[in-house]
Amino acid sequence: MEERVVTNHELTEDTFEKSIRPDSFDEYIGQTDVKENIKVFVAAAKLRNTSLDHVLLYGPPGLGKTTLAHIIANELGSNIKTASGPTIEKSGDLAAILSTLEPNDVLFIDEIHRIPKYIEEILYSAMEDYKLDIIIGGEGQSRSIKIDLPPFTLVGATTRAGDLSSPLRDRFGIVSKLEFYTDEELTEIVERTARVLNTKIEKKAAFEIAIRSRKTPRIANRLLKRVSDFALVEGKDKIDLDIVKKSLERLKINPHGLDSTDVEYLMSIIKKFNGGPVGIESIASSIGEEATTIEDVIEPFLLQEGYVKRTSRGRIITEKTYREFKINEQKTLFDEY
Ligand SMILES: Nc1ncnc2c1ncn2[C@@H]1O[C@H](COP(=O)(O)OP(=O)(O)OP(=O)(O)O)[C@@H](O)[C@H]1O
Ligand SMILES: [Mg+2]
Repeated sequence: MEERVVTNHELTEDTFEKSIRPDSFDEYIGQTDVKENIKVFVAAAKLRNTSLDHVLLYGPPGLGKTTLAHIIANELGSNIKTASGPTIEKSGDLAAILSTLEPNDVLFIDEIHRIPKYIEEILYSAMEDYKLDIIIGGEGQSRSIKIDLPPFTLVGATTRAGDLSSPLRDRFGIVSKLEFYTDEELTEIVERTARVLNTKIEKKAAFEIAIRSRKTPRIANRLLKRVSDFALVEGKDKIDLDIVKKSLERLKINPHGLDSTDVEYLMSIIKKFNGGPVGIESIASSIGEEATTIEDVIEPFLLQEGYVKRTSRGRIITEKTYREFKINEQKTLFDEY
């Protein structure tokens, strides 16, 4: 698959991403409400010497859920064990992870909405009274085993809080939604990453990267990396606005930070559905993406920025989109006939 620069998916084995991940609350920029609250709960748990309540982090990809989970463990002074929803297939998989936990450790489950239903049920009692109650063996030899677990904190991350069953959701004492970042926050993130990478960058240049990044730190960091490649090859010892503009142009980054999937989504509604209203399933089949991906990954940003509106009759393209893409609404209609 072609690797897009402006993609907000986590790439496997992304060592770059790991190397620039902030590891304390102080270095975690933005998300002020979420961060300040969690800070207090972490401090309280430490004072009481108890485990932190279970935490659910949700929001679009690349906004810092995994990063925050690691920071929580770090600030608690605890170990973090990580797992991902789809990889926990059998109750034994879950038992294997849970049995390694030490008191007050963090168990991070990414994509928690994708764990199988029967595993969810085992999680309930593990979360609630730190007991693991599983059935092992099969075919007449099955037996139930009960294991006492140390107090631990489950940190769950998901792009789809709505897909969690309510009994599971209700067992999280702390539920936090991560928001898109402001241009100023993203500028700070770009400046911080540049410092970590030992790269000099002008403020204006950092801001230009920020505004082209879909309000998402992951994308801002990737663009910075590409731009610094261009700067290096051109022999510049400092990233300035000029090199940012040139690089972004060469990388064909949309001035508004939209990626090619965003553009395809918007254009498909305009061209194939006359700007809407159109249902999500029709859009999905027209651009060959899953409806859930559209709802979780593509739409949150486009809705927040007002490129598209969600109505009871379906998605509708807004004036803003026609204006910014210089498309004449009438002309599009006439073209069809
Ligand atoms: N608040 C922040 N301050 C500084 N850097 C950040 C912040 N949030 C995220 N980042 C950077 O953005 C990158 C992506 O963040 P992260 O992997 O935590 O996102 P995520 O929400 O877990 O995404 P996904 O849903 O795809 O798993 C990280 O490498 C991290 O360095
Ligand atoms: Mg993540």
